[in-house]
Amino acid sequence: MPDIPLYLAPLAGYTDQAFRILCKDWAVDYLVSEMVSADGLIRDSRKTIEFMRFTDYERPFVVQLFGSEPSVLAKAAEFLLEMNPDWVDINMGCPVKKVIKRGAGSALMKDPPRAEAIVRAVKDALAGNIPLSVKFRSGWDSASLNYRDYGLRMQDAGADLLCLHPRTTKQMFSGLSNWDHIGALKQAATVPVIGNGDVISPESAKKMLEETHCDGIMIGRGALGKPWLFKQIKEYLETGNYHPITKDQLLTTSLKHLDYALNSKREDVVVREMRSQLCHYTKGLPGGAELRNTINHCQSAIEIKQHLSNFFGNLL
Ligand SMILES: Cc1cc2nc3c(=O)[nH]c(=O)nc-3n(C[C@H](O)[C@H](O)[C@H](O)COP(=O)(O)O)c2cc1C
Repeated sequence: MPDIPLYLAPLAGYTDQAFRILCKDWAVDYLVSEMVSADGLIRDSRKTIEFMRFTDYERPFVVQLFGSEPSVLAKAAEFLLEMNPDWVDINMGCPVKKVIKRGAGSALMKDPPRAEAIVRAVKDALAGNIPLSVKFRSGWDSASLNYRDYGLRMQDAGADLLCLHPRTTKQMFSGLSNWDHIGALKQAATVPVIGNGDVISPESAKKMLEETHCDGIMIGRGALGKPWLFKQIKEYLETGNYHPITKDQLLTTSLKHLDYALNSKREDVVVREMRSQLCHYTKGLPGGAELRNTINHCQSAIEIKQHLSNFFGNLL
């Protein structure tokens, strides 16, 4: 199998700096910021910059912008150049109401001329300094699957890379993603195509590659509580086998996650946010539900650490 680049998908509320660094420790190739509002970046750049801070260790680092006004997105891209990311992605796939209401995210799939104008404007603003990608869905609903023409139009407008999450906007995150769409786009496009959607294991990563011949794989929810998935996928594609995670590694990785979070956020924020993050490490394990309940009532990081140590210690 060829050496295929692996991407951590942007998951707003989850793929913060702590989780991104953790995935980098486990061999992910590309990291993407949580989506950043182009309007916000221009209006209150200080606050927004804080939100998308990244370190050299996280490179190659992609900043994802969302918005609906070509001129605003272009200004935001110009501004971004000063932060020196490795490339810029435009979110054209977010189905959340408050985003599509503003004509951004996957609302753009209903307005290809506007999407094209955005790509042209941002491409101009980047002036060849760094590449530009777009991340989009299969279409608005099952009666309007326009991913192929849409992707080619974005390519012709200047996108250097296409990333497809093959669900419709109406589907949100339900049902299964349709990998046939990734294969069809890959056949039609001349720029690289990244496949995204429902890769949750080394086996499913290999299956996506075989079925679609995509040029890269982007993984979101499958990596939550499993940052080692990237390393396992690489091992599996290379050798046909992979090492299962040990309970020791589970403990050290979950503790590391907590420590990384404490490096970048206040403890009370970390304690609150880690409730949803840490529950992914214990899914399916005996006693996991009780641990999650206990952690939900913890008030300090040290308490959480103790409970994690006891839990994984008892599993050994
Ligand atoms: C909680 C959550 C937050 C997300 N945030 C973003 C986002 O900020 N930008 C984006 O392009 N996609 C976002 N997505 C979509 C994911 O990047 C990805 O396309 C989708 O989850 C399918 O991939 P997966 O099956 O590997 O998770 C989000 C998805 C979820 C579940």
